[in-house]
Amino acid sequence: TEENEPQIVRGEAPEFEDGLIQIGLIQTGKESDWRDANTEDYLNTFVEERGYNLIYVDGNSSPDRQIKAMYDLIQQKVDYIIVQPIVETGWDDAIEKANQSGIPVIVADRQIKVDESKYVTWIGSDFHEEGKKAIKWLENYLTENGRSKDPLNIVVLEGTEGATAAIGRAEGIAEGIAAHDNWKVVASECANFTQGEGQSVMEEILGKTDADKIDVIISENDNMIFGAMKALEQAGASYGPNGRIIMISFDALGEAFQKMMAGKLHASIECNPLLAGNVEQVIMDLEAGIAVDKKYYTRESVYDYTNAAQYIDERVY
Ligand code: AHR
Repeated sequence: TEENEPQIVRGEAPEFEDGLIQIGLIQTGKESDWRDANTEDYLNTFVEERGYNLIYVDGNSSPDRQIKAMYDLIQQKVDYIIVQPIVETGWDDAIEKANQSGIPVIVADRQIKVDESKYVTWIGSDFHEEGKKAIKWLENYLTENGRSKDPLNIVVLEGTEGATAAIGRAEGIAEGIAAHDNWKVVASECANFTQGEGQSVMEEILGKTDADKIDVIISENDNMIFGAMKALEQAGASYGPNGRIIMISFDALGEAFQKMMAGKLHASIECNPLLAGNVEQVIMDLEAGIAVDKKYYTRESVYDYTNAAQYIDERVY
């Protein structure tokens, strides 16, 4: 279907008249494989041959470091600042300074909590919708298996507190859970989107809750569920389509496809990391004096163990 076609991320190299365009990119850190794919996409897009000089700043998972980076980039008088915020808050003063300095700010991936007049545009995923998709998938799966009336104990592995990806997904998931009297959250813990914490947090959960009492794990990204799988294996718990615990995560990484095909993961809700092409399009439009929208959502699908083999070859991250 059209929904499952990979998104086109880069067009022809644009032509800019006055030398290289200076781009400052403030990245979150290296918390996940999604993030690596996202960074690589920017590094491949904003290259000299295409008319750019990219100043890449790794936020190193520190919101303060990200804010400082914005001030530094303002001082360096870059032409555009692309910010991929770790958390939504704390940006007011730095954005104000960028505005006063006449540097357009483009927000991508997660969002920031400032008046939308302060930035040019935001490009990313509808995280709330992703959360709802996870629940929809679970509802359908239970119905198909005649289990929709059964009691269900759910564990949620949360992403970074204050990050739009975690906030939106958590809301979508919580709304869905609240609509089912027979569903209960037995643990919901933050594992910061990393595989290591996915494992250690799951180990802690299994220290308090017997694996036999867990029916579903919803992890707010793939890497955390990969970590959780290790903890489950150590505890001798059976999970995935070939086992007992229903496993759902977000991102739809290549590795998630491998796990779905291996019967270890039920479903992964896609979150597209290839944002650079869309960001570049906004910059090209701005350079040409074309008005841009305030919000651009990326197109995303849901994949599960029944169709992973069909789509794995066309995955690009
Ligand atoms: O903001 C997007 C999220 O951040 C992705 O789901 C996650 O894997 C990444 O680190």
